[in-house]
Amino acid sequence: SRPKELTIHGKSYQTDSWTNVPSTILETVSRKLHQQDNHPISITRKLIESRFPGYQHHNDFFPVVTVGQNFDSLGFPLDHPGRSRTDTYYINKHTVLRTHTSAHQADVFRANTSSGFTISADVYRRDAIDRSHYPVFHQMEGAMTWDRNAVPEGKTLAQLIWEDVEKLPKPDIVVEDPNPTTHPERNPLQKPHTQEEAEAVAAHLKRSLENVVVEIFSKAKEAAAASTIDEVRNQAQSQEPLKVRWIEAYFPFTSPSWELEIFWQGDWLEVLGCGVISQPLLDNADAPSRVGWAFGIGLERIAMLLYEIPDIRLFWSKDSRFLSQFDEKKICRFVPFSKYPAAPRDVAFWLPKVVPQDDVVTATASNTSTSPSPAGGLASEAAAAPTLAFHENDIMEIVRSAAGDSVEDVTLVDEFTHPKTGRRSLCYRINYRSLESTLTKEQANDMHDKIRQELVSKFGVELR
Ligand code: PHE
Repeated sequence: SRPKELTIHGKSYQTDSWTNVPSTILETVSRKLHQQDNHPISITRKLIESRFPGYQHHNDFFPVVTVGQNFDSLGFPLDHPGRSRTDTYYINKHTVLRTHTSAHQADVFRANTSSGFTISADVYRRDAIDRSHYPVFHQMEGAMTWDRNAVPEGKTLAQLIWEDVEKLPKPDIVVEDPNPTTHPERNPLQKPHTQEEAEAVAAHLKRSLENVVVEIFSKAKEAAAASTIDEVRNQAQSQEPLKVRWIEAYFPFTSPSWELEIFWQGDWLEVLGCGVISQPLLDNADAPSRVGWAFGIGLERIAMLLYEIPDIRLFWSKDSRFLSQFDEKKICRFVPFSKYPAAPRDVAFWLPKVVPQDDVVTATASNTSTSPSPAGGLASEAAAAPTLAFHENDIMEIVRSAAGDSVEDVTLVDEFTHPKTGRRSLCYRINYRSLESTLTKEQANDMHDKIRQELVSKFGVELR
């Protein structure tokens, strides 16, 4: 039943056996929340861009990219789980909806129009359904490079970079950074770099990003202090000093690599991934003499912190009770409108008799194990086998297609293997709750029936 062609922004693409992008996802391509005036995603983008003066800001790159751009150019191994059809939306075998803004890094380096740049864009990933995950979200990529061949006589590249570090404002926050800049096994220096170069690049990167965090939180604090709600105001006053920490990370296209975490409401929260750009990436982008850093930050997560927005679906709302609250001239605390009642419904089923291993639904594939990493999750998951039956993300897709944004979350609540027959049974709880109105019993039941039928017709499960 797959169409022969998909048309996206007037461009046609042949489909094939890899095609897995549903029309609900294609419909979001035109929304461009990061470019919509006074939308919180756009305001957040501009706020971060303001910390990168002199950089070139790209905001209009097309979301359809090649597998080469999204994965190969960045050194993703062929068996990386990010490449699988369970995680990524394929238009066809060679073409995907970008899963991250890093897909454009090599092209921008190749164009060589500016030493510093940002790229903000919508990105697409198949994922669990809950209040902080949505299959479309927004990222900002940032990068800065220095040209080895343009270092003045009598100076080293590392000295030149350190001079730029000194020009950055000194962030006024508590920073924990316990690890050495490089570590031979955990976070290696790249061959073409000296230790001094890596240290200088890392210092420039970390200070730049710490300044972003300071900017966001000072704005959040101002907004809270100006709130008409007493509680919010008092909370803002009693807040502890801002605390962040750098932890070691891994990405196929940076080394050494880090993640930045913010201490927020009692927990450490990952907000971005970054590192020293892999030299082969720059070589392949015809920029072999350049050395520098890159980061990727998830804009929804930052906007949720900044405004205290409790549910990621709200960003897609066209309801004026949401949209009218935001003004790019002044950051104000979001005032939630009343929460409509939830309508939970369970669906329990036996899996088809042939149960393949690994990648398909198992008890361990519950949606809590999906990496909630800031910009990604492309980084550190274990390799996955090609899928034969179905993956938990396929269930999520059915739920989204049948119920759209009327589902708050989907959780695996029971899992059971029959002792005699060895058949496996799963039970998912689907929590129906609209952000915009009260769902009637009938509406919830209709959506639920549709989902039950789809599970049978698409995956051959036996309902219990
Ligand atoms: N693209 C990475 C992700 O989505 C984030 C990242 C960008 C990491 C740039 C390092 C450098 O997870």
